[in-house]
Amino acid sequence: MCGIVGYIGPREAYPILIKGLHRLEYRGYDSAGVAILNEKLRVFKCKGKVSELENFVKDKDLHGTIGIAHTRWATHGEPNDINAHPHYSQSESLALIHNGIIENYAILKEELIHNGYTFFSNTDTEVLIQLIEFIKESNNIGLVEAVQLALNQVIGAYAIVIISKDDPDTLIAARKGSPLVVGIGEDDFFLASDATPIIEYTKNVVYLDDEEIAILRRGEEIKVKTIKNVEKTPLIHKLELSLSALEKEGFEHFMLKEIYEQPKTIRDSCRGRIQKDIHHISMAGIIDHKDKFLKAKRIIITAAGTSWHAGLVGEYLFEELTRIPVEVEYSSEFRYRNPVIDKDDIVIAISQSGETADTLAAIELAKSKGAFIYGICNVVGSSIARACHTGSFTHAGPEIGVASTKAFTAQVTVLTLIALAIAQEKGTVDKAKFDEIIDELESIPDKVTKILKLDNEVKEIAKMFTYARNFLYLGRGYNFPVALEGALKLKEISYIHAEGYPAAEMKHGPIALIDAEMPVVVIATNKGTYEKVISNIQEVKARKGRIISIITEGDVTVKELSDFSIEIPETKGMLIPILASIPLQLLAYHIAVFKGCNVDQPRNLAKSVTVE
Ligand code: AGP
Repeated sequence: MCGIVGYIGPREAYPILIKGLHRLEYRGYDSAGVAILNEKLRVFKCKGKVSELENFVKDKDLHGTIGIAHTRWATHGEPNDINAHPHYSQSESLALIHNGIIENYAILKEELIHNGYTFFSNTDTEVLIQLIEFIKESNNIGLVEAVQLALNQVIGAYAIVIISKDDPDTLIAARKGSPLVVGIGEDDFFLASDATPIIEYTKNVVYLDDEEIAILRRGEEIKVKTIKNVEKTPLIHKLELSLSALEKEGFEHFMLKEIYEQPKTIRDSCRGRIQKDIHHISMAGIIDHKDKFLKAKRIIITAAGTSWHAGLVGEYLFEELTRIPVEVEYSSEFRYRNPVIDKDDIVIAISQSGETADTLAAIELAKSKGAFIYGICNVVGSSIARACHTGSFTHAGPEIGVASTKAFTAQVTVLTLIALAIAQEKGTVDKAKFDEIIDELESIPDKVTKILKLDNEVKEIAKMFTYARNFLYLGRGYNFPVALEGALKLKEISYIHAEGYPAAEMKHGPIALIDAEMPVVVIATNKGTYEKVISNIQEVKARKGRIISIITEGDVTVKELSDFSIEIPETKGMLIPILASIPLQLLAYHIAVFKGCNVDQPRNLAKSVTVE
């Protein structure tokens, strides 16, 4: 989605702004622009990549110590130079950048046209800056007040930054439903959609809350007010990210780096939460609200994409360990189908970015119906993290690659811990079983390291299937969500069509697809309905399907039936999804690289879908 960067201070703004846009490229965009103020307010913007913007401005006067910059992912109006941000106000004395959607922009635009305003773009953003100027001029008031009044008329989501030719010492920012972070420097301020463009300058940040406005004046402390003009005391957080965490650290792609980070990130997801000596899982979110979990009659898990797949694993985990019925819902469906929600329901919202619009809306709906909301997010300070009553962070570190990998295994790890924490409160798991699971969970990072050593073997298999146009992924039980996740990984970065299916379902239609051209990936580890999966493999082979199997180390039975097999270490059935997903991540990655695809920024995709 869109990326926002702003700067005010003693330094030249342009180098900071353009580097910040590069840091935000992973969010997905289709145009970029910058506005610099130095007596004149200059806006430069164009369709395409940040590098094209750099080329476009190279002979322009970019001197100035205050500026804003933006990468746009089109929601209203096609990607082109005119629709790119920043947008001028009519008088060209104001410029604004915006992430989000102004849902009532059409009616506001009509009123502004009626009052003599003309529009150049067909964006909702231009309506907002004209509205701000119209209110400022027609009421003869200051810019901050005009912004407050304008935002009270706006319906929708926004993260905005405004720069004024008449006030070169002030930047104004505001947010509702889209993320915005303020970096507090020695004697300068930074603004960005997330911390990545800020971290190299300062670790002190303020996360704006919904309907808050930040007023950043040279030589003054940050001021925060609400759009209702209530003064707020900004809470300064210390960033734990290191800049190196943002670099590729020698890997060809962020995605590969993040796949290899998983032994560490799975450990980090458990850190401080397992107290083996007292057979205890300590999850603050559970302990502080155990009464709710003890009386819960149902758990509803809502998420999107990969996070939804993690939620599906959660369904098997919670029902096995806590015996609480679970439903897993796509956020985009849940938010609109007027679901029946009981006040004793617990809703678990899962989101890596913490900014997925559908999931945020699903949370608000569930909250409005009295449900207790537990969030599982990877980004501290994200909108979803702050919209939930409580929750747990996955601590997987910034996930830059658009295809989610380490976030998935971290989510499944945290779901396992939550299920165990509830089970210990409900007494549905005895100490022996509890200790067994914990011991096995603590061995998982080393088992992931072992699987990563098979990378070249997976790469050789990938080379054989770069031609394929369709894949089928099959799994049963805990491995059914893994089949879905493996298929999603492949299709989103290699653009090869792939479908995940419960293995038994193949007979109900998909088996018609099987022929020698159709590779079939089967997660056939030796737990659960293992024998049934062997029958499914034989059904595929009888139709000349080519089998790539994920098997438990030493399993010669399935190995002999397979054209290719990848052996993963033995583990408990409920922990297999963490291990089995690793070779599937590598398989998708290598096929995409062989196909020459843009692995970290696949076409049409954004890292965080902050619009519907
Ligand atoms: C996963 O690889 C995709 N990038 C996508 O499906 C993603 O999982 C989905 O958009 C949900 O994002 P979230 O976890 O940030 O809410």
